[in-house]
Amino acid sequence: MKKTILVTGGTGYIGSHTVIALQEQGYNVIIVDNLSNSEEEVIYNIEKITHILPVFEKIDLVDEQACEALFNNYAIDAVIHFAAYKYVNESVNEPLRYYKNNFHSILNVLTEMQKHQIKNLVFSSSCTVYGTPDSLPVTENSPIKKAMSPYGNTKQVIEEVLEDCCKANNNLFVTSLRYFNPIGAHPSLKIGEVAKGIPPNLLPYLTQTVIGKREYLSVFGNDYDTPDGTCIRDYIHVSDLADAHVCAIQRMIEKNTISNYEVFNVGTGIGYSVLDIVHTFEKVNNLKVNYQIKGRREGDIAKIWADTRKANELLKWKAKYSLEDMLKTSWEWEKVMANKK
Ligand code: UFG
Repeated sequence: MKKTILVTGGTGYIGSHTVIALQEQGYNVIIVDNLSNSEEEVIYNIEKITHILPVFEKIDLVDEQACEALFNNYAIDAVIHFAAYKYVNESVNEPLRYYKNNFHSILNVLTEMQKHQIKNLVFSSSCTVYGTPDSLPVTENSPIKKAMSPYGNTKQVIEEVLEDCCKANNNLFVTSLRYFNPIGAHPSLKIGEVAKGIPPNLLPYLTQTVIGKREYLSVFGNDYDTPDGTCIRDYIHVSDLADAHVCAIQRMIEKNTISNYEVFNVGTGIGYSVLDIVHTFEKVNNLKVNYQIKGRREGDIAKIWADTRKANELLKWKAKYSLEDMLKTSWEWEKVMANKK
């Protein structure tokens, strides 16, 4: 029988790509989202790709009663929890809003899962938990460093909460996926990242500059201890990242896990600098990026990339997209959005 997966935050950037990957593997999907950073239109765009309209519930999971009603209404086999605020800078300015939202929603979800004896959960964590790593690439055993932002702290604390819940309940299986930097858009160009306001992340800012919405891209610092002086990150195509969720769900449902609580890095294992991104973008799209070197951005670390062997071996997952493909789909998606307006 088809398994039913509840995807919280399923109309968001990573959530929507994951819904597609799940539907393509034969899962029933229920999306819950409060649409605080996405549009309902996404569910119809998903339908255009997979020919399946996902069930959609507009609910704020911080609302305990609404969350309870949701779990009473559906028979759910597993949950993938994306619903969270995600901007580092914003979290520094509004810590309470971040703590309230990100903690309350996961606690409500866990409470309902326990009540309904739902055994499997995938949690969106982040490589931010490694802070400034002592050595590279980072493995899942690399030390967790003091969080640099309330956003990062929510990821660390929630990972601890999940581990504690797994220790207390042998029937609960949780996988935390530590994402590196997701970029790109679905190859159909029907869904992608929709940045509201001024985008804090590199790719949407870059593509908005090239399309003429922003004057120039600021490259934050060229005096880091890296070959060209700019920061290095592990950029991963969002569809590859989405596939990792399906592998994690399959592993838990098939009971292939080694322990109740497992953690995986989800990256490509390759680090690229900000200038690598700019120059590769220019080359593959045959365009010029107007950029200026500026001072360092507070809170940035010099370099991080993933050791992905654990995910490759145990999740049987590997990133497939090249950097060139990621940067092509990022640009094509920006053009699609510009044509809509
Ligand atoms: N950058 C620029 N100019 C910009 C935006 C970014 O030069 O306009 C640089 C940053 O300084 C950094 C790199 O591009 O060196 C990547 O920055 P992003 O903001 O795209 O991504 P971050 O690595 O800062 O943050 C991401 C996620 C967070 C997560 C964090 C963990 O957005 O959710 O990785 O390191 F917590």
